[in-house]
Amino acid sequence: MLQERDRPIGVFDSGIGGLTVVQEITRLLPNERIVYFGDTARVPYGTKSKESVIRFSKDNANVLLKYDVKVIVIACNTSTSWALNVLKREYAMPVIGVIEPGSRCAVQTTRKKRVGVIATQSTVASGKYVKTIQRFLKTARVFQKSCPLFVPLVEEGWLDHKVTENVALEYLTDLKKNDIDVLILGCTHYPLLKPVLQKVMGKNVTLVDSATETAREVKSLLERENLLRYSRHPAHHEFLVSDEPEHFRAMAKRFLGHDLPHVRRVDHV
Ligand code: DGL
Repeated sequence: MLQERDRPIGVFDSGIGGLTVVQEITRLLPNERIVYFGDTARVPYGTKSKESVIRFSKDNANVLLKYDVKVIVIACNTSTSWALNVLKREYAMPVIGVIEPGSRCAVQTTRKKRVGVIATQSTVASGKYVKTIQRFLKTARVFQKSCPLFVPLVEEGWLDHKVTENVALEYLTDLKKNDIDVLILGCTHYPLLKPVLQKVMGKNVTLVDSATETAREVKSLLERENLLRYSRHPAHHEFLVSDEPEHFRAMAKRFLGHDLPHVRRVDHV
């Protein structure tokens, strides 16, 4: 039996995008072991109903439990929107989502109290970012916009493409008119579009990347609970998917900056 602190961090996402969160956790906590599960058989979640997203999220958490994880990180914004409270209620271990960390950073950053959020349709429909931001700062005005085409553009690798810039202009021009000074990137894929988003929004708008903020939250939780892993040996990570691994492997490099030699397919429990 592994010591409590040597158990891995479990991270799940609807597919590949959660690797942006893995990258940040690895940067901040290089000693931590990670088991990542991407539900590639059922991606995307961003167009799905609350009921489906909750059901999928529970299935994903159950996969991670089989790997004896010490904490579950929901790296997907859409899953966090609908399923964070359900998982927190139903599972004994700590569960962290991506919405609170990003929202907290946004309220600490905004001077105008005017915050923009871009996300999937399902996340926008949940209103979870609006509620969370206003819980931290009652007087904040929040302006949301769903940007569904960004996910396939990122997966196609069109990060710095004129089509992507045109799509961003189309989505963001109206949002910009709301005089926001902070924009939350409320979807796992959007951090890869930072340069184009910054260009379209202008230098007076600060982009908040939920992945970075979530990694900080994971670190403080592990510190608080005395669960940090100390080791001189490099940590081992495991990458699991619910569909064939090849496509995931091919895209992983874009998200992580390096190849993923071992990706395994596993079935839901
Ligand atoms: N991971 C999803 C999110 O952050 C984006 C991809 C999807 O629609 O499943 O909301």
